[in-house]
Amino acid sequence: MDFKNVLLKKEKGIGFLTINRPAALNALNSETLSEIHKAIEEISNDDEVLAVIITGAGDKAFVAGADISEMKDMSVIEGRKFGILGNKVFRAIETLEKPVIAAVNGFALGGGCELSMACDIRIASTKAKFGQPEVGLGITPGFGGTQRLPRLVGMAMAKELIYSSRIIGAEEAYRIGLVNKVVEPEALMGEVTKLAEEILRNAPIAVKLCKQAINRGMQIDIDTAISLEAELFGECFSTEDQKEGMSAFVEKRKEKQFKNR
Ligand code: CAA
Repeated sequence: MDFKNVLLKKEKGIGFLTINRPAALNALNSETLSEIHKAIEEISNDDEVLAVIITGAGDKAFVAGADISEMKDMSVIEGRKFGILGNKVFRAIETLEKPVIAAVNGFALGGGCELSMACDIRIASTKAKFGQPEVGLGITPGFGGTQRLPRLVGMAMAKELIYSSRIIGAEEAYRIGLVNKVVEPEALMGEVTKLAEEILRNAPIAVKLCKQAINRGMQIDIDTAISLEAELFGECFSTEDQKEGMSAFVEKRKEKQFKNR
């Protein structure tokens, strides 16, 4: 499918989704959000793609937020609709049955920080900047920021960042656990691709079920979460890849042929 504001490239099992409005620092207008949704649907239906990397076009921004020009004159109903759209798209990323890594190459503010938080893992370049500047614009974060930031960095730190609208650098984001790793800008895509390839060497169904177990388990009580893990663990034994993974170990075979079955 052809898109106007995003680029989707598929290479060796990895889907590279680039938010592509560099003149507006990749700000998310409704059209871009809808295109991200379509691209995620396409990735979801493509059995060849087993991991996703999301990044921003240009050398300045990952995504500098939801589009302020579009939001400026919105009514209550339009504002609510825009929030629902952003949340629907980001939830589709979060629940996609494939691992998603954010390659944060620059500004990740407001909706940009929220997009990165809907991904499973965030790797940042030293140039990345994170923040939820919404209260400075007279609004709350609207694409999941009030919910995912406290889940990632703890309630007190999330409240400090959201109430103050302070923008932090990549090292501080790393220190508070918002990003997994910080690398030099020129090493970012290589590093993220290497991580995706590392994941791709494993059984895709097992990775998918781990994502489900972690995401669903973190929202429920420990006893229900443990039962969920037991159920998903059991499910693995219906797969050819479990037989292959364990046979390879027993046969002392390094090469494994996982088939996503
Ligand atoms: N929406 C619309 N346009 C944006 C934008 C945004 N979020 N961020 C940047 N742009 C546009 C600018 O208007 C500018 O366009 P023009 O050249 O046509 O004037 C272009 O991108 C370049 O931006 P700047 O000239 O401002 O670049 P800078 O280097 O001086 O500053 C910046 C960079 C600090 C990121 C600054 O652009 C900025 O503060 N952007 C807004 C950040 C923000 O507040 N994001 C949160 C939005 S609200 C939100 O996301 C709500 C939600 O949760 C759903």
